[in-house]
Amino acid sequence: MLPARTPSPSFPVRFSSLSKPLLVLIGVAGIFLGCARASKSHETVLTFSGSALGAEGTLVAKQLKDFMRLNPGIRVELQRTPDDASQRHQLYVQWLNARVGNPDILQLDVVWTPEFAAAGWVLPLDRFGPASSEFFPATIVANTWAGRLYALPWFADVGLLYRRTDLVPREPATLHELVTDAQQAMARPGGPRFGIVWQGARYEGLITGFVEYLGAFGGRILDDSGRVVVNQPAAVRALQFMRDELYASQIAPLDVLTWHEEEARFAFQNGTSVFMRNWPYAVGAMSDKTQSRVAGKFAVSPIPASGDPGGHSTATLGGAQLAINAYSESPAAAYKLIAYLTAPQQMLERAQAVGQYPTRQSLYSDPRLRTAIAIPPEDARRAIESATPRPVTPIYTELSEILQIELHRALVRQAEPQDALNSAASRINALIDRTGMRKLMSAARQTTDVPDTAGAGAPLPADRSQ
Ligand code: GLC
Repeated sequence: MLPARTPSPSFPVRFSSLSKPLLVLIGVAGIFLGCARASKSHETVLTFSGSALGAEGTLVAKQLKDFMRLNPGIRVELQRTPDDASQRHQLYVQWLNARVGNPDILQLDVVWTPEFAAAGWVLPLDRFGPASSEFFPATIVANTWAGRLYALPWFADVGLLYRRTDLVPREPATLHELVTDAQQAMARPGGPRFGIVWQGARYEGLITGFVEYLGAFGGRILDDSGRVVVNQPAAVRALQFMRDELYASQIAPLDVLTWHEEEARFAFQNGTSVFMRNWPYAVGAMSDKTQSRVAGKFAVSPIPASGDPGGHSTATLGGAQLAINAYSESPAAAYKLIAYLTAPQQMLERAQAVGQYPTRQSLYSDPRLRTAIAIPPEDARRAIESATPRPVTPIYTELSEILQIELHRALVRQAEPQDALNSAASRINALIDRTGMRKLMSAARQTTDVPDTAGAGAPLPADRSQ
């Protein structure tokens, strides 16, 4: 249901004061307009929302155009939303709380689906018969809530370590080695100003990096039974490493605590950093010699383990999903568009244009994927299959906000890592109790059969220079 529109301001001219010929003209024009409207009324108008930056924006616009050509009765309008995951989330929540039917199609982050599903904001897709088994199981699990599928995975993200191959020829085997490599490269005459750039702003990106350091030291946010373990010794060591080795040591820029994906990419692309933590999308723009100073001089590899016992190389599972707004007036047409955008051909085209990893398993044996993405497809496939998901729960956003605040307090030395994580753990426990989620989280685990990939550790994909 659409909200009532604001009535247009009344026409300020009194008809009686107009000349006859003019009145006829207006009438005829009205009839024409009426006809135009009538024929347009056979058209279904869909609004598609999502990130549409740079090459990705060009690709989305092209694919929407292709879709409209194949479906002449459907017109799709693109509604841009912010790139910052937390800002987009906020905007969606405002719209959906107001029961607005636009945008019809929502680009959801992998961690939002349970929240949107539990709130009744997105439609279950089962009625459309999606071929779920063709996608990576972890991406389907992330989009399933209480046994029903609510979104189709569009592309998969895994956290990667980018490095300058002209400065550090071999990938670091441990985090400690990474720090030494960074310091040595910075100390070279004319060496880059920074050792590593990452997403340190207080938003979802900070949590994705934290999950990787957590795994590297052998820690987790929740254990298998849903207990909060984010203040255990391994987690404290991970946060200490972020604060002392990655931030206070000044191998990262001072203002990294305000940076998102794009600020990190710009810095690395301009040659000012030895390493960067980012998602696969960054490869495309950075390989383009016309805009990148590091084209042909960088490689991607997994974020290494700390080197401490119990730690393992970890990549956070991210990615985008497409879901239908529960208040949409055209769910069938919306699904048609989702099915089109997530079809093999469009996914392959996305990989070729922006280097993002497909969520369809069969594409990993398609030879065209080999030249499209930065690492061999079999390595990308293994990285996705073993990537670490963030907790699958409708209260994820609140949980993440608590952690974001406490991590920042520790990084800026307002609190010691142990105290900040104790505070995070007790606030997350209070949240779980207040929302009655302890029971729901275990119910979800039974109905969705969540695989325990956390702790599996990402196998090391082979290095590949760009
Ligand atoms: C990327 C990932 C998403 C993650 C976000 C954090 O968009 O796909 O899962 O939450 O970055 O910034």
